[in-house]
Order: sequence, then C-alpha cells, then structure tokens
Amino acid sequence: MTRTKISIVGAGHVGETTAQLTALKGLGDIVLLDIPQTGDMPAGKALDMFEASPIERVDCRITGSTSYDDTAGSDVIVITAGVPRKPGMSRDDLLDVNTTIVKTIAEQAASLSPDAVLIVVTNPLDAMVHVGWKASGFPTRRVVGQAGILDTARFRAFLSMELGVSVEDVSTVLLGGHGDAMVPLPRYTSVGGIPVTQLVAHERLQELVERTRRGGGEIVKLLQTGSAYHAPGAAVTQMIEAIVRDRKRVLPCAAYCDREYGVGGCFVGVPVVLGSGGVERIIEITLDAEERSAFEKSVAGVKALVARVAI
Ligand code: APR
Repeated sequence: MTRTKISIVGAGHVGETTAQLTALKGLGDIVLLDIPQTGDMPAGKALDMFEASPIERVDCRITGSTSYDDTAGSDVIVITAGVPRKPGMSRDDLLDVNTTIVKTIAEQAASLSPDAVLIVVTNPLDAMVHVGWKASGFPTRRVVGQAGILDTARFRAFLSMELGVSVEDVSTVLLGGHGDAMVPLPRYTSVGGIPVTQLVAHERLQELVERTRRGGGEIVKLLQTGSAYHAPGAAVTQMIEAIVRDRKRVLPCAAYCDREYGVGGCFVGVPVVLGSGGVERIIEITLDAEERSAFEKSVAGVKALVARVAI
C-alpha cells in the first residue's frame, strides 16, 4: 500500500505551520518545497519537524526540498508560496507578483502529480485559485482555495469570546471572496443549535461581522512584518484531512461556480462537500435580498480582479 503524499510549496510561515499540523495529525508523508536560498531552509525546517515526531509519536516522513522531482506522485499539492501583506496593503495589491509565482508552481507541480487535488492559499485568494486552475490544467473540482474555513473560524472565535462558550459549539457558513467584501451569514450561524440571532443583539452581531471581514488586516496590523499563519495553517490542514481521509466535510471553500448561485464561471467561497475527489459537490443555500446583494458585490470584485490576471 502506498503512503499518502502531501506536497506543500512555500515553506514560509503558512507552509511551515501547515506542515507541522499535518504531521501532528499523521495525515501522510510531507514534502516541503521552497526556492533555493542561502543554506537549505526547507531541509532544515523539515528535519527539525521530523525530529519532533518521536516525541509526538507520529510516523510521517517530512522532507525539505528545492526540487519539484521530490513532489512527484503527490495526492495533495498545497501552494502557500508568495508574498504576504504588509501594513497598509490589501490582498489585491499582491496580484501581479503572486500570479507569476503561483503560475510557475502550479505548472511544475501539476505535471508531476497529475491526479492530485490542488489547494491554493496564496493571496489574493480567489484570483490565485483561478491562476492555479489555469496553470495546472486540472479539472475544476480538483482545484480549491482555502479562505472560508479561516474566515468562519475567526467569526466563531469572536462569538465564543462574546458569549463565553466553547468555540466548538459555534457553527456558521460564509460566502464570497476572501476580502473585506466577504459575506458572513448570521442567519446561518448557531450556538449549540440555537440561532445566534436569539443570543446576540443585531448591532453587536454586525460589529462582529465587520471584525471578521477585517480579521486578516487586524493580524497584519499587530504583526507589522507579515500576515496571519496559525489559523490559516489550521484551516489548510482541515482541508487536507477532509481530502486524504475522504471525510466529505461540509466546509466553506473557494470552488468553481458556474450555474451554482448564478455565478457564471468563477472561483468564489461557497459551502462544499470536500472529499478524496476534491470539491465533490457545491451546496446552494437560500439567500435573502440583502445577503444576495452582498454576495453579488463580492463576486463582482473577484471577477474584476480575475480580469486583470495575465494568464
Ligand atoms: N517557489 C517556491 N516558494 C516560493 C516562491 C516560488 N516561486 N516564491 C516565494 N516562495 C516562498 C518564499 O521563499 C517564502 O518562504 O514562499 C514563502 C512565503 O512565506 P512567507 O513570506 O512567510 O509568507 P506566508 O505568511 O507564509 O504567506 C504566504 O499565504 O496567506 C497567504 O497572503 C499570504 O500570499 C501569502 C501566502
């Protein structure tokens, strides 16, 4: 029986965190790849992580590399390579530089792992998923972007702090692009099965929605030297787990929507069933007029950005 192989391209903050969490869960062997630079950073990080495995009692091999040959035959490819935001930058400011990076990576990695599921994490997220799809040549269902799990995790974290309840008991869904126009959905949010609208006043809920929309920027402002990576790494790991264990998890992810939600051919955040086939199904929920208008505005923003992508 062959072991599951997960390649993570970009051994920076998000890539490294993802590798560590993926190893701790014993999800498969991991290849951590980055560009050649002084020393051998990916090899150093990988060896350090592997040396933790006797303590953690997991048997995942973790290899650092600067060669795509080592990624051949991967079941999952994760792209976290790229330039992160600095204070004052929006995710969209990264478009040109990260398009080139994601395109080069997707082309090389996909050719060596033609049956993999490709998870894109690089920002601006929805546009970079489009780039990954085009450059890989993969069918749409095997290309998916991480954003909604992170955004909903932030909303859940804020609500758990607000109500003094377990994070585990807060459940929600979110739509749209991974930007400040994302669409958290209080109407689809519950705490232990109780609609959140019965527990938190409307105005306060709107404040928490707004904090969620700006959640990435809040971390950038605090860190000053880069963007979030603990919660993003955890979010990617949840997606890897859903795929390699074929769990059919219902998770908000950037998936290719054509007729779904009337999007008309674009990667955007929606609830999906995530399993070994990648995006196995997109779940359509009903939206009221306000939610639909917010979603359409967010989709229009993503489409405008994708139109600027030179690929
Ligand atoms: N091939 C492989 N790795 C690359 C390439 C490339 N062509 N270009 C850059 N990288 C690597 C860098 O060398 C670096 O190690 O990508 C890594 C990025 O790491 P960080 O700078 O620490 O950035 P990180 O915080 O991990 O964010 C990466 O994820 O959440 C998004 O907005 C974020 O787009 C950013 C990405």
